[in-house]
Formats: sequence, structure tokens, C-alpha cells
Amino acid sequence: MIRRPLVEFAGLGVAVPDRVVTNAEFEKTLDTSDQWIVERTGIRERRVAPPEQSVAMLAQEASRKALAMAGLGPLDIHGIVLATATPDRLLPATACDLQALLGARNAAAFDLSAACPGFLFALTVAEGLVASGQGENFLIVGAEKLNTIADPTDRSTAILFGDAAGAAVIRKSDGGTRGVLSTFIKSDGNLADLLYRPGGGAVDPISNKVVAERSHFIKMAGREVFKSAVLTMSEACDQALQRAGISAAEVDMLIPHQANLRIIEATARHAGMPLEKVMINVDRYGNTSSASIPLAIDQGIAEGRIKPGMTLLLVAFGGGFTWGSAVVKW
Ligand code: COA
Repeated sequence: MIRRPLVEFAGLGVAVPDRVVTNAEFEKTLDTSDQWIVERTGIRERRVAPPEQSVAMLAQEASRKALAMAGLGPLDIHGIVLATATPDRLLPATACDLQALLGARNAAAFDLSAACPGFLFALTVAEGLVASGQGENFLIVGAEKLNTIADPTDRSTAILFGDAAGAAVIRKSDGGTRGVLSTFIKSDGNLADLLYRPGGGAVDPISNKVVAERSHFIKMAGREVFKSAVLTMSEACDQALQRAGISAAEVDMLIPHQANLRIIEATARHAGMPLEKVMINVDRYGNTSSASIPLAIDQGIAEGRIKPGMTLLLVAFGGGFTWGSAVVKW
């Protein structure tokens, strides 16, 4: 039996910076090659935001598009949940800066730290906020400037990430069959040190030592992360389908987190989804963390591959470790 959705996607929007950085650019500064990057990751280019374009500004552009699609104004929004691993400032939340930029004066605004599946965690939180009567319209946002936390001298991480924002208006369902059929989120903090930023936080506040050791940048054990990613994405697919009470055969499109083409292919294989039913744009944007899923949905809509009434399976994993999924009747 299919669960009646409590919430639905009313609008979606994305924003990417103008500047395209190709793999060839990294060949100039790092011991790497376009061939290595394409073969191991599937990434060909990514977007990089200039210093004057903040995370909140990217989020604002995406949010305005999402509001326009939903036919709502900023004052109609009761809450903003912004997922990011790269807040503009450590205090206050970037969501509050976004609220001010939008003029969403009726909203409660807060950030959510769940790394790459942040958008799915935000969706889950928004659904809960609707369920507990906090309001009817919520803006969920994944917005990142990962290039500000990737070490430009570390070839194993610098090539992976891109900057972008994606936003969606989540609205209380009108009782129809469209909407979020299931969500699933999970974490394993024992694996935190496989993908983390050791310095610059409260444990080791920013200092000359932190800067000299470059410990304010992302450190990653790539191979271990890869293995966990495949396992957790597979579990997340199974869980979302089970909770929605449907089989993979009933899914029209898989929208996986865009970290690495090989991880996407392994996830699709596990779910039994042919690649023509999988959104892939890691080649164009790299890993944009919490912005990755909305960016892929947006592209699917623009290309006519995602249409109203389709059943979508969203799935992501990231630092923490964290992982999550959702089944959505679009
Ligand atoms: N260019 C050329 N060589 C590189 C390189 C680069 N950009 N980055 C790493 N290498 C080298 C390594 O130094 C290593 O050399 P060595 O054998 O001499 O020690 C070799 O390539 C193999 O490294 P390894 O890390 O085992 O490669 P890999 O096949 O696992 O690919 C990743 C590396 C990072 C692409 C891959 O592990 C990965 O994608 N992991 C998941 C990362 C991820 O998704 N993170 C985000 C989570 S949301």
C-alpha cells in the first residue's frame, strides 16, 4: 500500500557560478591529468564561485527560482532549512543571511550540518516540521562553496569538488498522491575521521599552527570513503523503497549524489536501474555536496527526463558518515 504523502515539492531552483574550471587547469598546478581524473571520477569540469559570491547569494538565486515555480512569495515561507558544509560565517547560520536576502520575515531559519546528503536531511526535517504543525511552506536548500575548504595543493581532493546551490519549496500536501512517499536518514560517527576538517573548529581553533599544517582543509581517505559510499548508498536505496512500499522496478529515475561516476554506477547496479534511468551530471559539476541532488533533478526537468507523476529515488552519502534517501512522486 502506498503511503499518502504529507508534503510535496512545489518548486525547485538552482544556481551555479559562471566560472568553469576544467581538469586541464589542474594539470598546470598539480601532478595530475585530465585522463586520470576522468577515469577515476568521471569529472570533466566544475564551477568555482568568486570570493564576492557568497553561499547565501548562491542560495538566494536558487531559492528565488524555487519560489517562482511554487508561485509563492518570501513571506509565505514558514521556515528555511539550509544544509551546508561551507557556511559563509561560523555564526550566525547562513540560513539567517539567506532569510535576510530573501526578505522571508515570517520564517525560522537554521543551518543543518550533514555533508553531502544534507538536502535529504533537510527534506526529512521539513516533513517533520509540517507534521508538527510549524507551518505549511518550507524552503530547503543545499548550498556550497566547497572550493574554499578543498586544499588546492592536495591532488586527491582538489579535483573533486564544485560550488553550487539548489533549493526546493516543500509544501503541505493537498491530499493527492504527488509528494514524498518515504525518507530515510542515518549516520555513523565512528567513521568521522575518514572525511573531515581537523582544524579551525572549537577543538583546534584557527591559529598559525592550523594554517601552517593546512588542517583547516578537507582530509579524506579516498579508498575507504569509496567503499563505504557504495555500501551506504545501497542500503539507503533499499530502505527508501521499502518504506515507500514499492520495488525498484516502479522507479522511473534514480537521482544519486554526484561524487564519483563509479559510485553512481555501483549504486545503479545494486538498485537494478539501467543507466538510462539514472541522472548523471558529475562530469559537468563535480561533487557539489548538498547541492548535488537538486542540481541533478533540475537538469532532469530541463532535459524533459523528469516529468510530473514520475517516481524518483533520491540517494546520497557523505562525511560523518551520513547517508539518506527518499522516494518522491514528482
Ligand atoms: N591525479 C593523479 N593521481 C592521483 C590523484 C590525482 N588527482 N589523486 C590521487 N592520485 C594517486 C594516489 O596518490 C595514488 O598513488 P600511489 O598509488 O602512488 O599511492 C593513486 O592515485 C591511487 O590512489 P587511490 O586513492 O587509491 O585512487 P582511487 O582509485 O581510490 O581514486 C578517488 C581516488 C579519490 C577518486 C576515489 O577514492 C574516490 O572517489 N573516493 C570517494 C571520494 C568521495 O566521493 N568523497 C566525497 C564523499 S561525499
